[in-house]
Amino acid sequence: MMGQAIVYEVGYVSDAFVGVMRFQSLAYILAALLFILALAGLSRQKTARRGNIFGVIGMAIALVATIVVAVMQTEQAAVVTIGLMAAAIAVGAAIGVWRALKVKMTGMPELVAMLHSFVGAAAVLVGFNSFLADPGMPGAESAFHMGEVGLAVFIGAVTLTGSIVAYLKLSAKISGRPLTLPGRNAINIVMVVACLVLIGCLVVSRGIEEGLIPLIILCVISLVLGAHLVLAIGGGDMPVVVSMLNSYSGWAAAMAGFTLGNDLLIITGALVGSSGAYLSYIMCQGMNRSFISVILGGFGGDSPKASSGSGEVAEMGEYTEVTPEEVAEALKNSKRVIITPGYGMAVAQAQFPVAELTRRLQDAGVDVEFAVHPVAGRMPGHMNVLLAEAKVPYESVLDMDDVNDDFGDVDTVLVIGANDTVNPSAETEPDSPIAGMPVLRVWDAGRVIVFKRSMGNAGYAGVQNPLFFNENTDMLLGDAKASVDAIVAAL
Ligand code: TAP
Repeated sequence: MMGQAIVYEVGYVSDAFVGVMRFQSLAYILAALLFILALAGLSRQKTARRGNIFGVIGMAIALVATIVVAVMQTEQAAVVTIGLMAAAIAVGAAIGVWRALKVKMTGMPELVAMLHSFVGAAAVLVGFNSFLADPGMPGAESAFHMGEVGLAVFIGAVTLTGSIVAYLKLSAKISGRPLTLPGRNAINIVMVVACLVLIGCLVVSRGIEEGLIPLIILCVISLVLGAHLVLAIGGGDMPVVVSMLNSYSGWAAAMAGFTLGNDLLIITGALVGSSGAYLSYIMCQGMNRSFISVILGGFGGDSPKASSGSGEVAEMGEYTEVTPEEVAEALKNSKRVIITPGYGMAVAQAQFPVAELTRRLQDAGVDVEFAVHPVAGRMPGHMNVLLAEAKVPYESVLDMDDVNDDFGDVDTVLVIGANDTVNPSAETEPDSPIAGMPVLRVWDAGRVIVFKRSMGNAGYAGVQNPLFFNENTDMLLGDAKASVDAIVAAL
């Protein structure tokens, strides 16, 4: 009787276990599909909102499935597991909401960098936990597992300190200048080789005593490597570093997925890793940088005159100023107008009056479009987000490549808070820090009006812009929002 009960019990438990695993697989496949649809949606402005919704639903399904499975599989009382997870989620969500509410649009890159460091830290902790719970044993399966642990700790630790340094640099808590130690490439190579050797030691280790020391040394070297890679990169190149760290954080999550045997984490990590790498590639093209040297952290040294941010610059000759009323008159008499927004529009929060100006001109029969440079502002898609926020129709917002040959047919270009992205010296001066960076050829237009606060300040790359001193360029000095408001009033 007793034996029969045990058999039934075991049968019931294994049936329940199979049921849980099926539920988990189904939920994870659904969530993974939704993440892929989210990425596809986010690739175009029109579908971005839908993409976001797919992502939110996918993440909700993944979270619910993880909690349900954890509760079903736990050996302790379900209420304890639920309580622990609820506490962890509450703390994480509270910090997330607090930071997200506080952050300004221009501070997004540093927030993103900080969030990447959490992913790196999580991968390191998962790696250590997995090692302590299941240390090296004889056999191929254990060796494979130790390899996963080593890689998770390696990539996680590089991401952790790399992201912390990126955060400190972007928030100006430490200098943005590249740290160029003598022989820094050799130092990096030695550290990478040492890490690979230590992962090898971990793979052949038996038990905690043999494996723990190599794992700790691996972690310390990887932490130093991550910090050194990003310290060596100059301020102007930081955006690419942030997207590269985004990619690293994806690979760290994927490695954590291997160690935890969690398929969804592997898929999600790989999606983040590959999309981050692709974004870095596009940004490298936009800024004319070598993708390989970014991955290797040797990026800052490539541009000898790289600046670590905006500074004061000398004037290059005579320039002419206009008043808002004169600009309003010029716009009324134009058939085709292109607006090239930049970082200054974000600082001034001028997108709303700019959208109002666009509507007024379009109502008066003027053809108005926006030309957006891939690295205008301080984060990928910065200008697109601002213009969408101000309800500028998507079809009026053109990418640089679609519009760059058209400037000859444009009567008036309004350069609103852009500088480096419209700097002709990128094409004409091989020694310039922005040499080779594709730029918007606004100077081909009939008339160019540049909005900035003063003639003394440079753009992000810290170089003077000869465009401001061209014959067909006029400067409208002052805060961009106040200037556009004044033009709208004059219209
Ligand atoms: P920038 O070259 O940074 O120039 C910004 C311009 O806006 C300056 O001329 C500045 O002059 C003006 N400005 C600032 N505040 C203003 C205000 N309140 N009203 C009016 N004008 C104002 O801008 P950009 O053309 O967008 O180029 C972006 C640069 O940032 C590139 O070098 C890019 O590589 C780099 N970067 C890009 C990213 C990404 S991913 N987009 C991330 C980090 C860095 P005043 O100070 O005189 O007003």
